[in-house]
Amino acid sequence: MQYPEILDQYRLRAEQGLKEIFDRSTGPAPLLQAMGYSLFAGGKRVRPVLVLAACETFAPGGPDPLPAACAIEYIHTYSLIHDDLPAMDNDDFRRGRPTSHKAFGEAMAILSGDALLTEAFGLVARSYRDAGGSLAADLLAELAMAAGSAGMVGGQVLDTLYTNRHASQSDVETTHGMKTGAIITAAVRCGAILGGADEDELAALTRYGNRIGLAFQVADDVLDVVGSRESLGKTAGKDEAQGKSTFPALLGLERSLGYLHRLSTEAHAAISRFGVRGGALAAMAEFIEGMPEPRPNGRAIPHATPRTAAHRAP
Ligand code: IPE
Ligand code: IPE
Ligand code: MG
Ligand code: MG
Ligand code: MG
Repeated sequence: MQYPEILDQYRLRAEQGLKEIFDRSTGPAPLLQAMGYSLFAGGKRVRPVLVLAACETFAPGGPDPLPAACAIEYIHTYSLIHDDLPAMDNDDFRRGRPTSHKAFGEAMAILSGDALLTEAFGLVARSYRDAGGSLAADLLAELAMAAGSAGMVGGQVLDTLYTNRHASQSDVETTHGMKTGAIITAAVRCGAILGGADEDELAALTRYGNRIGLAFQVADDVLDVVGSRESLGKTAGKDEAQGKSTFPALLGLERSLGYLHRLSTEAHAAISRFGVRGGALAAMAEFIEGMPEPRPNGRAIPHATPRTAAHRAP
């Protein structure tokens, strides 16, 4: 899972920005320790990279996209901390280390997630309030829509409702689009808004975001089946053990990979109008499609039959 070179500059900028912004945080030391523990544990930084890359698709000279990029990574990190809690996926490992609740206890894990979410909104409000127009409010509305009941949190609720229940392909697409696609689409949209995209350009980038957002969770589902704890930095094989409604459970691995390829093709088509300016976004679509590579021991991913036993009809 190596980033294409064209994206590495954005990742380094995001990493640097996160450090500088987090260093200015105030609050009780144990809380800051827990927040920093999860933030700086080696995430791929896909969402902040998307903010920066989407912004640079347009003319330079606008407001700095870095605070918005970092705010989205704060929200994403909060979502991971809560996703891992015993009441949710009950995971012990994340980003190559014990999960927040394993390291600090459940109360601190919950509260550090709460703080990351809240600080993200403060960061955007403070960073863009003097930029003029409705920029700060527009970005805040994007983030709230993507993170809230119609977005990530709503998707996490569907995820729990479809656990050990039958879900159709359209149910799983909706769940994945909300729990993962919404924040990824918001990253692209915030970058585009900061870059000064017009309405048509924003619509094209929204289509791109929807496709790679869904693709990202399909790739994550496949990796849960074919990856290892060492390569993923998180427990593998949990989805099937917990009866999650995933693409591999629904379609098998080969068809899931075919679906991933189709989504990536559609993402490329959505940004074709940007030509070379869309190069970084195209590279991200390719990166996401390639996330399940290399396959274990260089072999083709074995054909898996769709699971039915664990998926009882409601
Ligand atoms: C994992 O996200 C959770 C999903 C939304 C699938 P990432 O795979 O982006 O996790 P990090 O940020 O690299 O740790
Ligand atoms: C998580 O999906 C999506 C979030 C909103 C955090 P998963 O539960 O599949 O993510 P992992 O596999 O634990 O990273
Ligand atoms: Mg989950
Ligand atoms: Mg999980
Ligand atoms: Mg997963």
